[in-house]
Amino acid sequence: MEVVILPGSKQIGSLAADAIEALLRRKADAVLGLATGSSPLPVYDELARRHEQAGLDFSRAHGFALDEYVGLEPGHPQSYREVIRREFTDRVNIDPENVHSPDGSAADIEAACEAYEEAIKAAGGVDLQLLGVGTDGHIGFNEPGSSLVSRTRIKSLIEQTRRDNARFFNSIHDVPHHVLTQGLGTIMDARHVILIATGAQKAQAVRDFIEGPVAAICAASVLQMHPHATVLVDEAAASSLRLADYYRHTYDNKPGWQGL
Ligand code: GLP
Repeated sequence: MEVVILPGSKQIGSLAADAIEALLRRKADAVLGLATGSSPLPVYDELARRHEQAGLDFSRAHGFALDEYVGLEPGHPQSYREVIRREFTDRVNIDPENVHSPDGSAADIEAACEAYEEAIKAAGGVDLQLLGVGTDGHIGFNEPGSSLVSRTRIKSLIEQTRRDNARFFNSIHDVPHHVLTQGLGTIMDARHVILIATGAQKAQAVRDFIEGPVAAICAASVLQMHPHATVLVDEAAASSLRLADYYRHTYDNKPGWQGL
């Protein structure tokens, strides 16, 4: 796992966008794993800017969302399908037909989860997965206790996550209890994973998943087993890391040809 400590969101957005741009330049039909939440927004802003100003081309790219609420009516502004559309895919030239999300309004939830796994496979697997992390260490919506080899399935949200996400709704009562999420096994299949965490409220989760044991109680810790995981954090989110100086030294002296 590579940990990169950067001054702020702008630098994080730009470095993650560099990795996505490099991927698209060597593989125009790359499959991007798309996360919601506020953490990836600087990346989407930077990609939209590069599309607009430098013609970065997404016309052959594919996108797969990480997760979705269950039970929001189609088109609900806080459904992750809509959020991804608004924050990212509508701002670049990706074909809407190539952007997928788990179907949280399906009558047969199990079949919808299976179909989602199949669709990812049929697209050739995720090349680069963007992730945020919850204050309880969740990635996607894999709450504490999630199987480390889980696939796309329904999960119940922990109260803290509903509280954290209430800011996007009128009140906590409107935040669904159930969600569909790619499993930890699904996320681990992505060829490269970039997790972004900013702000002091993430410091404990960041320390737990980077430097604590690999354990289902902290779902993101499974990334310690990923062959190519990059963690981009700002100073506040990095403030509890024991080996912060080592991560800084390593990144500052990294061979330029290596990229992320
Ligand atoms: C939600 C999403 C996660 C995201 C998390 C953190 O729970 N399901 O994918 O990582 O929020 O969000 P934020 O980046 O806004 O802190």
